[in-house]
Amino acid sequence: MKLIPIVLAAGQGKRMRSALPKVLHQLADKSLLQHVIDTTTQLQTLYNQSIQQLYVVYGHGGDAVCQAVQQWQNAYPDCKLNLVEQVQQLGTGHAVAQAMPLIGNEATILVLYGDVPLIQAQTLMRLCSLLREKTLALLTVTVANPQGYGRIVRNTAGEVVKIVEEKDANDVIKQLNEVNTGILAVSAAALRRWLANLNNHNAQKEYYLTDIIAAAVSEGFQIATCQPETEQEVLGVNDRVQLAQLERHYQHRTVQQLMQQGVTFRDPNRVDIRGQLTVGQDVEIDIDVIIEGQVHLGDRVKVGAFSLLKNVKIGQDTVILSHCVLEDAQVGQEVKIGPFARLRPETQLADKVHIGNFVEIKKSKVANASKINHLTYIGDSEIGQNVNVGAGTITCNYDGVNKFKTIIGDNAFIGSATQLVAPVTVGEGATIGAGSTITRDAPADKLTLSRPSQQTIGHWQRPIKK
Ligand code: UD1
Ligand code: MG
Repeated sequence: MKLIPIVLAAGQGKRMRSALPKVLHQLADKSLLQHVIDTTTQLQTLYNQSIQQLYVVYGHGGDAVCQAVQQWQNAYPDCKLNLVEQVQQLGTGHAVAQAMPLIGNEATILVLYGDVPLIQAQTLMRLCSLLREKTLALLTVTVANPQGYGRIVRNTAGEVVKIVEEKDANDVIKQLNEVNTGILAVSAAALRRWLANLNNHNAQKEYYLTDIIAAAVSEGFQIATCQPETEQEVLGVNDRVQLAQLERHYQHRTVQQLMQQGVTFRDPNRVDIRGQLTVGQDVEIDIDVIIEGQVHLGDRVKVGAFSLLKNVKIGQDTVILSHCVLEDAQVGQEVKIGPFARLRPETQLADKVHIGNFVEIKKSKVANASKINHLTYIGDSEIGQNVNVGAGTITCNYDGVNKFKTIIGDNAFIGSATQLVAPVTVGEGATIGAGSTITRDAPADKLTLSRPSQQTIGHWQRPIKK
């Protein structure tokens, strides 16, 4: 079975009140549409079913949607992301019909909505597997409040006979609480036939995709149905309130999975995972931590409150205290960072390093057991082992045009409030006197300092108020 997803994304999303097309709004780390594309392309790896083509039907905000989809293509080397324009939004049936001329009859079509981001691959697979015996399978859901949805109408034998939209429903049908999620799987040949016969004689003057159900039944087909594991999976986003609700559902689901893997969250409701977090054993995460991109935390790592970790790898037994910001950095084992420390891109800390409060490190390597504990900027530097960098040290790496390197050898001691004007090298075992401005290389094992000698003015008096 060749499965081809068609993702409907042409609607305007008026209620978002946004210049950005609705499907490009972010949920966690990805846009709504990208969540859907991601999930459908997962079907391939999960169930060994190759998905080579996917169609996105776009309309409103066309340029932005097209650009975004084209940018994502690289992330899906095995699946071609095709764009199909629906110039006028004449209904869901009309939207699907736009893609059909490009699709052969042997395919199975999976219809998805670009604004229903939390649908799970397992659910879609269950739906598709119903097509082994049936020509059309619907994902339905039974809800407490069916208002706004198309209702699933069954006969006394319990077979689906049609879907009636809210606006076309009488009071009896409005009582039904099994509703259409919009997601369905259907054989392409049959779909093509049914779409050709759709009309717009209904309350909304739209070509409803849902009318293919009655068409199928009138040809004698039985409709298969299944339901998602949770209702959240099939909730759509229409406004920013719903977007925020789905963000919470997503976070809840992600954090639950991580707890099952053995992570302790001090409060699972106060953490945000916007990317991929992989963990060793007994990791502990305090409140209001944000994880972005690809993050790995080794065994027994502790992350303090209010810290942001983006694309970082942290070795085992490392402790990150509160209020730290780490981005594109690699951190070894038994390292101590923070509170209030910032690691910027291309920072590498070896094992047992200590980075203290109000320290910023950029594009630098710090070797084993070195300590940079207070109020310091280290940029474009290589720092050896067992180095002690005193409070208020600054590597002056930038002359306003170019960047230069600072190299500090093993066992060096940099006195407080030192400026190291790069390019400059401090030799192994060298000591730099506090308050120095070092503009030339400092030799190994020697004391180097640049400091006017201290004076006391004997006859000086404090001014007095006139
Ligand atoms: C649709 C279903 C309804 C179902 C509900 C679930 C139809 C006729 N109705 O209703 O049975 O309960 O979804 O949420 O299918 N779209 C296009 N082009 C169009 C129209 C819509 O791309 O011309 C896209 C929208 O962007 C959206 C999706 O299709 O992603 C659904 O459209 P929407 O207008 O929200 O349909 P509903 O009236 O909610
Ligand atoms: Mg809708």
